[in-house]
Amino acid sequence: MTDKQAVVAALAAVLPDVNRDEIEEKLEAPKSTDLGDIAFPAFFLAKALHKAPQAIASEIVENIDQANFEKVVATGPYVNFFLDKVATSKATLHQILTEESDFGANEDGQMRNVTIDMSSPNIAKPMSMGHLRSTVIGNSLANITAKNGYHPVKINHLGDWGTQFGKLIYAYKTWGSEDEVKADPIATLLKYYVEFHEKAKEDESLNDEGRAWFKKLEDGDPEAHELWSWFRKESLKEFTEIYDRLGIDFDSFNGEAFYNDKMDGVVDQLAQKGLLVKSQGAEIVDLSSIDENLTPAMIKRSDGATLYMTRDLAAAIYRKETYDFVKSLYVVGGEQREHFVQLKAVLSLMGEPWADDIEHISFGLITFNGKKMSTRKGDVVLLKDVLDDAHELALAQIKEKNPDLANKEEVAEEVGAGAVVFHDLMNDRTNNFDFNLEEVVRFEGDTGPYVQYTNARAQSILRKAGKGVNLDDLNLDDAATWEIISNLNNFPEVVRRAWAKREPSVIAKYALNLARTFNKYYANSKILTEDDQLNARLALVSAVSVVLTESLALLGVKAPAEM
Ligand code: ARG
Repeated sequence: MTDKQAVVAALAAVLPDVNRDEIEEKLEAPKSTDLGDIAFPAFFLAKALHKAPQAIASEIVENIDQANFEKVVATGPYVNFFLDKVATSKATLHQILTEESDFGANEDGQMRNVTIDMSSPNIAKPMSMGHLRSTVIGNSLANITAKNGYHPVKINHLGDWGTQFGKLIYAYKTWGSEDEVKADPIATLLKYYVEFHEKAKEDESLNDEGRAWFKKLEDGDPEAHELWSWFRKESLKEFTEIYDRLGIDFDSFNGEAFYNDKMDGVVDQLAQKGLLVKSQGAEIVDLSSIDENLTPAMIKRSDGATLYMTRDLAAAIYRKETYDFVKSLYVVGGEQREHFVQLKAVLSLMGEPWADDIEHISFGLITFNGKKMSTRKGDVVLLKDVLDDAHELALAQIKEKNPDLANKEEVAEEVGAGAVVFHDLMNDRTNNFDFNLEEVVRFEGDTGPYVQYTNARAQSILRKAGKGVNLDDLNLDDAATWEIISNLNNFPEVVRRAWAKREPSVIAKYALNLARTFNKYYANSKILTEDDQLNARLALVSAVSVVLTESLALLGVKAPAEM
């Protein structure tokens, strides 16, 4: 029986008319552990029982069976339960050390599929910090999804189609060079694209040339197709370097182009259902019946070319048919909010009930030392440079703290990349935030390296002890360990909350708090002293390391054993 279940059982016995699920739902954590470990607020019973909440709380305490608890007290309108610390510590440590990385997992998802549209950078352009956010938030959500018993499908919806490729082909054919592209593909292609826009400002006819080449590409012109496919291949090579560094992989790279032969079907369906309307030569779906303020969805341009929306409609339908998802997530910046509202609106007008399972997982803007980034102007912060700088900053600190460490370079990469990822995930995802690398890679404060360092410290204590933990001797009764135990105990609920809110930050904040709690304990106790609780203390240290490592893993951050 978990602690919560014990509390629910005791309360249910004295509140026979209240539903057990309702009791469980109302349970909360008291503001501090001095007040108790689990609190039951009596407010909601006042009306039904015609009594003041304070009176209800004291009556419950008078009648409740206290056998399984250290004590049960009424504090104002709350019934506060103090768990039996020795028994709870024992059970918690035993569970964590036998389940290890499975601790905190549940089977809520029943292995049903959740598709996660993530990363999705645009071919021939550098991956931006915005795409980094989508990549790491998506990856962490995939891990959290799996921990909750679902089966995640990570889809990289590459931006490998659209009018920009017409512009690029025109630019390349008119003033580009094969050798130049080969030497530095994305940077060179970006340069052509930027030049195209500069020239088009003076000569509007360039835009028509670009459009014409895109039309050729859509119609399967061999020359256009060959160039496009070469740009795509070279770009993907560079993206893969970044994914490898972050340790992130995908289940599908079906980008926009993949839906080319699936769009006629969508357009036909829209026409059949009478949803397609002509407007100034273009074809649109009017969405005012769903929301009068919603801009119509553009399905076909006046020259017949399909659009981003059309491809997303085809993709959504394909994903439902292929994966029969229970949820379909799109991890995309907040600036595309309206696009996803429109996407869902069109699908529901088409009569697809699963349109409601589509969720736009929005996130805020990221700036770098106060600077915004824009690919259009070619003024961009390259992700590769950010990771390289993070690596160097981590290496410098490792050299200072642990000069004898053998695999410094490897650890510096895990700490540098981990720092960038952790920082991205620790704030609520819809917040905007600025990025200062020196702060992010620090070993102290609210950073990923701080959590990693705490875990390495726990590992080093275990190495020094030089012996395994005996799971039959886990008696711990000092108050100092209790804060850690009750934190560890919360992990399964934290995993559920992170999924319910689609928020990796729930895990990151939890990990920071656990690390802080452990460091406080470490500073105030002699863990390695030879006494009859040594084994139990080592079990505690080991359990903290298991949960810190697993929290970092859910975020997609490595946990080096030494740093
Ligand atoms: N390539 C797009 C961009 O960089 C993001 C695509 C997001 N996914 C989607 N299915 N629309 O803005």
